[in-house]
Amino acid sequence: MAISDHKIEEVRSASDIVDVVGNYVRLKKRGSGFVGLCPFHNEKTPSFNVNPRMQIFKCFGCGVGGDVFQFLMRVERLSFPEAVRALAENAGIVIPDDSNPGPQADASEAVYHALRFAARFFHQQLVETDEGRTALHYLVDIRGISTSSIRKFGLGYAPDGWDTLLNAARAASISEEVLLKAGLVVERNDGSGVYDRYRNRVIFPIFSKVGKVIGFGGRVLSDADQPKYINSPETIVYHKSHVLYGLFQARQDIRRQGEAILVEGYTDVISLAQAGVGHVVASSGTALTVEQIDAIKKYCDRVILIYDADTAGAAAAVRGIDLILERGLAVYVVRLPDKEDPDTFVRREGAEAFMRFLHDNRMDFVTFKYNVERDEDDLNTPESEAAGQRSVVASIARIPDPLVRAQYVRRASEIMGVPEGTLERTMAGLARQRRGRRGRRRSTEPQASSGANGPEQTQSQPAVAVAVPAPEEKVLLRLMLEFGPDIVEFILSNMSLDEFTPGPSRDAVAALVAMYQAGQVDKTKLLDGSTGEGVQHLAAEVLTDRHEPSTNWSRQNIDVPTLNQDPRESATSAMALLKLDRIDQAIRQLNSRIRSEVGEEQVRSLQRQMMELHAIRRDIQDRRFLSWNEV
Ligand code: UTP
Ligand code: MN
Repeated sequence: MAISDHKIEEVRSASDIVDVVGNYVRLKKRGSGFVGLCPFHNEKTPSFNVNPRMQIFKCFGCGVGGDVFQFLMRVERLSFPEAVRALAENAGIVIPDDSNPGPQADASEAVYHALRFAARFFHQQLVETDEGRTALHYLVDIRGISTSSIRKFGLGYAPDGWDTLLNAARAASISEEVLLKAGLVVERNDGSGVYDRYRNRVIFPIFSKVGKVIGFGGRVLSDADQPKYINSPETIVYHKSHVLYGLFQARQDIRRQGEAILVEGYTDVISLAQAGVGHVVASSGTALTVEQIDAIKKYCDRVILIYDADTAGAAAAVRGIDLILERGLAVYVVRLPDKEDPDTFVRREGAEAFMRFLHDNRMDFVTFKYNVERDEDDLNTPESEAAGQRSVVASIARIPDPLVRAQYVRRASEIMGVPEGTLERTMAGLARQRRGRRGRRRSTEPQASSGANGPEQTQSQPAVAVAVPAPEEKVLLRLMLEFGPDIVEFILSNMSLDEFTPGPSRDAVAALVAMYQAGQVDKTKLLDGSTGEGVQHLAAEVLTDRHEPSTNWSRQNIDVPTLNQDPRESATSAMALLKLDRIDQAIRQLNSRIRSEVGEEQVRSLQRQMMELHAIRRDIQDRRFLSWNEV
C-alpha cells in the first residue's frame, strides 16, 4: 500500500532534521545551522551542514544533500517508504500497512487520539466554561501563569465529577477500553465500569518531543489531604522514565543555549519559560534516567541540575551526576536557597536575577560532590575523608573523554588537596574495574562503538519498541527481588542497564539500582506501584509465576538456571543466556548489513566487526564476562 502524501507530510513535519541527523552525527552549532563530520565520506574537518530552517542537509565535501528522508535512506540504506515508516515510528505516527496490520499500531493510534481529545477537552473546560473559572483564577492570579503560557503548555482543567471526561469521550465515540488504555479512566473496584482519573484538578499535558500528547499530570487546586499530583500510569505510549516534561517546548532553546536546565516540577518549567528562560525541562519527580539524559544529549552537551536545598534534593543530584557524566555530558549543579523552587524564585526575582544566580552559584560536580560528602561526614576521620575523595574520583572516572577527565583530576586535586598522581592511581584502580564492565556492555551493543551507526539505530527498531522482556530477564528480576542486595550487586556489576529490554523490565532494574545505591532494597516499592504500573505487573508476575525456565534454552556449555540452584549460579547462567541472545541478534543484523553492502572497504570493515562479535560471543560462552575474572 502506498503511503499517502498527507501522511508523508505529517511525518516530515514531525521529524526535525537536526534531531534525526543528531542520532548519527555529533553536530555543533555554527551560525544559524549546524555542522559535523560527514557520515558519508571520510573527513577530518567538518563540512557536513544541517539547516534547521530549511530542514535540509548538505555536505560540501562529498556533495550529497537532501531532506530528512534522503538522509535516513542514505545513512540506513533504506528505500523511501522504509525511511518514512522509520521516522513515523519515531514520531508515534501510525501508517496503515496491509501487509502488517499490527494490532499494537492500531491500539496506540487510538490511544493517541483519546489523549488528544482529552487534552482539548480539559483545555476547553479551563478557558471556556464556568466550571473552569476557579482553576483559571488559580493559574492566572495565584500562580501567575499567563494565558499565553496556558496555551503554549496546553494547560487544562478536569471538572469535579466522576464522568465528565467519560461522557464527553463517549459522545465522541471513544470507547471505555481505549480510555482505560490511555490511562484517562480507572476501573471501579467492583468491576462495574470506569470513572475519570482526573477530577477537579489543573491539568498539565505531557508531550512527546514531537508534540504528541502522551499523558497528563493533574494538580489539586487546594492543599487538601490528597496527593498533590496524579500522573498518568505507564501506557503503551507513555513511559515515564523516558520522558522529560517540557522538552517539546524547550528543545529549540536548549539547542541554541547549548545547555539544558533540569528542574523538578511542571510549574518550574512553565514559570521559567514564561520569564524567558526557555531551555528548561523537568524530570517530573522521578530519579533521572539514562533515557532522559540521552533525550537531552540530542540537543546539547551540558546539563545544569537545579535542586532544592533539602538533603533529598542533594542526594538526587548526586545520583544524576554520575549518569550524566557517563553519557559524555558536562554537568553543573545549582542549589537554590532554602524553601525556594525555581518557580518561586523566578517569579519574585525575575529572569535576569535567576540567570545571575545560576551563573554565580553554579558548581562543577567535583565541588558539589565534595561538599555534599563533607556535609554528610560526621566522623571526620582520615578514612571517611578518603571515602569522600574516592567517591569524587569515581565520578570523574565515568567521564569518557580522557582530556576532560584530566581537567577534572586537576580540579579535584586543587579542591581536595590531594596530589594529582594519587588521584590518578586511585582512578586507575577504578578504571580497571570499569573497563571490564564497559567491555561487557559493548558485547551486547556492538554498534555503539562506531560513531556513524550509533546505538540509536537499534533503539528505533520495532522489535525493541514492543519491549517484551526475555525470559532470562525475568529470572534475573526474580533473583534480585527474592535474594536482595547481595544478588542485586552481583547482577548489576555484570550487566548494564541497557542490556535489559526497555520498558517495565529496564524500569524495574533502574528502580533496583536506585534502591541499591540508596542502601536499601525494598521489593514492596516495586509491587505497590510507586515505580509505575508496568513495573508493578512485571514484579508481581515474576514473583508469582515461578518462571521455571524451559529446557530448550540449553545451549552450548551454559546451564539452564533452575530454582534449586545457588542464586549466583542461576544468575550467571541467566546472564550468559541473555547476553548470548543479544549478541546473536547483533550478529544477525550485521550479517544482513554485510549481504547488502557493496563497497569493498565497507565490507571489510563490517567483517572485522563480525570477528569482534564472535570473539565476544566466545567470551560469553566461557563466562569471561564475570567481573571477578577481570580484576
Ligand atoms: P513539587 O512538590 O516540588 O511540586 O514536586 P511543584 O512542581 O513545585 O508544584 P507546585 O509549585 O507546588 O504547584 C515536583 C514534581 O514532582 C512530581 C510532579 O511532577 C511535580 O511537578 N510530583 C510531586 C508528583 O508526581 N506527585 C506528587 O504528589 C508530588
Ligand atoms: Mn513549586
